Amino acid sequence: MLNGKVLSNPNKSDICKMNHAQSNNIICPVITLNEFRKRLNDTGATELLILVDENTRKYCLPVLFKLFPELNEAAVFELPSGEINKTLQYCESVWQFMSARQFSRKTVVINLGGGVLCDMGGLIAALYKRGVVFYNIPTTLLAMVDAALGGKVAVDLMPFKNQIGLFQSAEALVLHPEFLLTLPKDELISGWAEMLKHALISDDAYWLNLIAQNPENIQISLIEKSIAVKANIVKSDPMEQNVRKLLNFGHTVGHAIESYYLTSDSPIKHGHAVALGMLVEAQISHDLGLLSHYELAAIGTNITKLYAFPSDLCEHIKALFELMLNDKKNSGGQVKMVLIEKIGKAVFDQNVNFVVFQKALKLVTEKQAS
Ligand SMILES: NC(=O)c1ccc[n+]([C@@H]2O[C@H](COP(=O)([O-])OP(=O)(O)OC[C@H]3O[C@@H](n4cnc5c(N)ncnc54)[C@H](O)[C@@H]3O)[C@@H](O)[C@H]2O)c1
Repeated sequence: MLNGKVLSNPNKSDICKMNHAQSNNIICPVITLNEFRKRLNDTGATELLILVDENTRKYCLPVLFKLFPELNEAAVFELPSGEINKTLQYCESVWQFMSARQFSRKTVVINLGGGVLCDMGGLIAALYKRGVVFYNIPTTLLAMVDAALGGKVAVDLMPFKNQIGLFQSAEALVLHPEFLLTLPKDELISGWAEMLKHALISDDAYWLNLIAQNPENIQISLIEKSIAVKANIVKSDPMEQNVRKLLNFGHTVGHAIESYYLTSDSPIKHGHAVALGMLVEAQISHDLGLLSHYELAAIGTNITKLYAFPSDLCEHIKALFELMLNDKKNSGGQVKMVLIEKIGKAVFDQNVNFVVFQKALKLVTEKQAS
């Protein structure tokens, strides 16, 4: 039984007039609250729909209403939080809600939440009546530096991550780092993993800067730096034909770990799974002669101090590899990974077989246990 909740349902509202020209650009602008205010004042929207989950309804929606009193009359729909609920069924519950109220193609959707909400809300907006405008207002670190930017919207087809989705950009990403004040520590650490990834694939100086910082006390300049790294890569390859694949470092193994534990009693957060994935993929990079022992050790030290492997991981190596075989980046029945040659330089489309994966996974888990 779906339990998406309707929080308010105003009559058709014309409080905002949005620019409905949907951007073909995959990279949307990152805008300030003031810029968003200007856009709200100029909108031609017939309806406004704010999507939240139970946590962003509690912690972020009151902040948004305070900043933008004109949004008080918008319809609000609460989706349940968590990766396990990033499904087409919940999208359907929102589409039913919108259709029952005759929301038009001039509806504007505002996604107020983390990566799960932005991924799902983006897909909901992109498919409703063949597409309505949406804005992402990310409220987690992970969504600010990664998920809310770059035009990938998707839901999972259990157990496969992001199996059903589109390339569709938000109209803009509205950046308001103050939302992080209520974010739990392990969610900050989760987002931190994507920032480490940005450094590892593109910028050794950024890596040195990051590892000297405290992820619980993040400077806005670092958020902006990570946004810039992602934006630059996506700009040069919006549809992930080549260099955009680099952003998947840590994700081939990471998604398999996240998927495997998704329905368990102890699901693993996306960023934590990516961090563990980066450890394994760095080990593979070393084992295949790409990455030096010295840099592998530096990556290992800095990741293992923040992220821990589930104790039973090595019991599921075959199942994990099976999941990896379904990864979207594969071709020709081969698992393709992003590997790193050195900190700040990565390569994509590297074939990795089961034996190599098994050896690396065993090694990194043993190292962490010792
Ligand atoms: N589209 C992309 O390019 C892309 C890139 C990276 C990750 N992702 C996706 O992002 C998702 C992970 O995103 P996430 O880590 O943001 O997880 P999430 O959206 O599940 O949010 C984490 C938790 O924090 C809560 N929360 C959100 N904001 C809060 C706040 N300000 N205060 C208190 N609690 C708050 C949420 O309710 C949730 O419980 C995954 O599904 C992943 O696949 C997508």
